[in-house]
Order: sequence, then structure tokens, then C-alpha cells
Amino acid sequence: MKKRCFALVAVLLTAGMPAGSRALDRGPETIDLKERFQVEGNKKAVIFPHHLHQAGLACADCHQDPAGGGSLLVEFVNKSGVANDFHKKFCWPCHEEKKVTRGKSCSTCHK
Ligand code: HEC
Ligand code: HEC
Ligand code: HEC
Repeated sequence: MKKRCFALVAVLLTAGMPAGSRALDRGPETIDLKERFQVEGNKKAVIFPHHLHQAGLACADCHQDPAGGGSLLVEFVNKSGVANDFHKKFCWPCHEEKKVTRGKSCSTCHK
């Protein structure tokens, strides 16, 4: 009985804590963005290396919540053609800023 009370208290405490002090949920290691955002088209699905991106960046570089997860900074409205929002508003600007090698080469992301 006592043990169960402790467990319950722990759950309640965690739920009430500010995001920063919660155990970090790093999310999936890789994410199929075509499936996740229901993108239609013939290009090969982009399998986003999520954990690789966490190495040198802050969660807040992509997520609204500084502890990561939930909404991204960008909403993807235009999902077709080369001028889509993934390219123009999310992946490419940062790859340009960080000077990622072949960061805008099609085969870097569509493989
Ligand atoms: C930095 C990563 C990245 C690079 C580089 C990149 N793309 Fe994309 N592209 C994406 C993402 C993410 C999507 C949306 C998810 C998906 O389709 O899997 C997408 C979607 C697309 C789409 C719309 C969906 C479809 O299947 O028609 C086209 C067209 C496209 N890309 C063409 C290109 C071309 C051409 C290049 C090279 C000039 C290129 N992409 C380079 C990440 C990239
Ligand atoms: C370079 C961009 C980028 C960075 C940096 C990043 N993420 Fe993400 N993250 C994404 C994308 C894109 C998704 C998929 C979007 C979605 O599922 O809504 C995602 C999804 C997630 C999810 C799953 C969300 C859900 O609702 O299922 C979690 C959890 C998460 N990220 C945690 C983190 C944490 C923690 C960090 C920092 C240590 C982090 N992310 C850093 C881009 C990033
Ligand atoms: C906030 C910055 C940022 C955003 C946004 C971002 N990237 Fe990156 N990306 C990086 C950096 C920095 C690297 C280089 C990482 C390294 O080599 O350690 C990288 C590298 C990559 C690589 C190469 C990985 C490898 O194996 O060398 C791929 C693929 C990639 N990104 C896909 C994407 C896609 C797809 C998106 C958009 C959905 C995206 N990135 C958005 C910063 C970003």
C-alpha cells in the first residue's frame, strides 16, 4: 500500500513540474516525414535523423517548447513541389546558416 502511494505522489509531482526539470523525452531516433505529415508526391520519403540533429543543436532550434516535443517552430502548409515549406522554411535555411556539407543536395535527404 505504502509503495503505491509513493508511486502516485511521484506521478503527480512529475505532472506538475515545469518542462525543464522533467526527464527529457528525446522522441524517435528517426522520423519518416512523408508519412508523418502526409506528404504526397514521387520523391523518396525523407527519413529525418532526429537524434543526430539533437547533438549540436538546442531543442528550441526546432521546437516551441525549450524541452522539445510538441509543436515545431514552423507549420508546414505548402507540402508540394520544390518550393514546399519543409525546404523553404525549415530544413534549408538552417542548413545554409550552419553550412552543412551538401545540405541542399537532393540525395542528402531523399534517398
Ligand atoms: C535538407 C533536406 C532536403 C533536401 C536537401 C531536399 N529536400 Fe525535398 N523534401 C524534404 C522534406 C522534409 C520534404 C517533405 C517530406 C517528404 O516528402 O518526405 C521534401 C519534399 C519534397 C518534394 C514534395 C514532395 C514530393 O514527393 O513531391 C519535392 C518535389 C522535393 N522535396 C524535391 C526536392 C529536390 C528536387 C531536391 C534537391 C534540389 C530536394 N528536394 C532536396 C527535405 C529535403
Ligand atoms: C533540427 C530540428 C529538431 C531538433 C533540434 C529537435 N527536434 Fe524533436 N522533432 C523534430 C521534428 C521535425 C519532429 C517531428 C515533428 C512531429 O512529430 O510533430 C520532432 C519530434 C519530436 C518528438 C515527438 C513529438 C510528438 O509529439 O510525437 C519529441 C518528443 C521530440 N522531438 C523531442 C526533442 C527534444 C527533447 C529535442 C532536444 C534535445 C529535440 N526534439 C530537438 C525536429 C527537431
Ligand atoms: C536548426 C538547424 C537544422 C534544421 C532545422 C535542420 N537541420 Fe539537418 N542538419 C543540421 C546540421 C547542423 C547538420 C550537420 C550535422 C552533423 O554533420 O553533425 C545537419 C545534417 C543533416 C543531414 C545529414 C546527416 C548525415 O548523416 O550526415 C540530413 C539528412 C539532414 N540534416 C536532414 C534534415 C531535414 C530533412 C531537415 C528538415 C526536416 C533538417 N535536416 C533540418 C541542422 C539542421
